[in-house]
Amino acid sequence: MSTPSFSQWMTHIQERMESALDRALPVPAITPTRLHEAMRYAVLGGGKRVRPLLVHAAGDISGATPERLDRVGCALEMIHAYSLVHDDMPCMDDDTLRRGKPTVHVQFDDATALLVGDALQTLAFQHLAEAPVSDDPQRQLGMLRQLAIASGSRGMAGGQAIDLASVGLQLNLSELEFMHIHKTGALIRAAVGLGVQCGRNLNDDEMTSLDHVGKVIGLLFQIVDDILDAEADTATLGKTAGKDAANDKPTYVSLLGVTRARALAEEMCQDALDRLAAFGEPARRLSELTRFIVHRQF
Ligand code: IPE
Ligand code: IPE
Ligand code: MG
Ligand code: MG
Ligand code: MG
Repeated sequence: MSTPSFSQWMTHIQERMESALDRALPVPAITPTRLHEAMRYAVLGGGKRVRPLLVHAAGDISGATPERLDRVGCALEMIHAYSLVHDDMPCMDDDTLRRGKPTVHVQFDDATALLVGDALQTLAFQHLAEAPVSDDPQRQLGMLRQLAIASGSRGMAGGQAIDLASVGLQLNLSELEFMHIHKTGALIRAAVGLGVQCGRNLNDDEMTSLDHVGKVIGLLFQIVDDILDAEADTATLGKTAGKDAANDKPTYVSLLGVTRARALAEEMCQDALDRLAAFGEPARRLSELTRFIVHRQF
């Protein structure tokens, strides 16, 4: 049997994840129905599922089972979806369109959007704690801790705080890198690290190398997000284009311009691919996914 193409693999994982997320979320018939409806609205039926794809691609390297990777992928996607719901609120980026639909606070209301974020965040940890994703319970405890750090004030939430505090400021390259590595990079890096840990033990050098790859992919993901915000249109993105300039956000585009920002993303992609080459065939999907992240249109 021939190996599925990257696009076939991606569709397969996206479909698996849609059904795993559907099963993991509370059904709307359960009280409080409006909150459960809004949680499902925020998570289901949209998004590229890049973090779960990273979990699955990284899990290939350590031979992890798809069921474990689905569970870890669900936890990451729940945290990510919560971060988007809050990111779009009037007190943050004030966006009305997300994944081609009205944002949660527009479709429901501000208080519901706040609670959707709260509830998705805790559900992510519940889901990750509910069944084994490693043969070693001690390691699973470490994975829960890793997800908490990546999501909290030393990770995504901290990066978002820096983003808000940076409106109207001209950051230098290392300040901008710090912000991006936290607000977006932390969850992406965790996706790679947690995916790998669902399978057999890799040695310290291999883990360090893959952690570097996760860090690089996380940063380049947000550089490309900055470029797309400036260059793509709203219909393609499924979110309002040009918002970074409108909100006076410092980005790789405002600092370097599109051409240099893109060159930097390409350079980082090559760094990740060079590292992944050492892992051979089991790293095929992670390499392909890295290229996809750099060359994506939305
Ligand atoms: C958008 O993330 C927000 C950032 C962290 C840059 P994605 O581009 O992964 O959004 P979805 O999940 O595909 O909608
Ligand atoms: C969002 O960054 C990062 C998080 C949600 C944590 P952006 O504000 O650039 O994301 P978009 O462009 O609204 O998707
Ligand atoms: Mg933002
Ligand atoms: Mg935003
Ligand atoms: Mg953006």
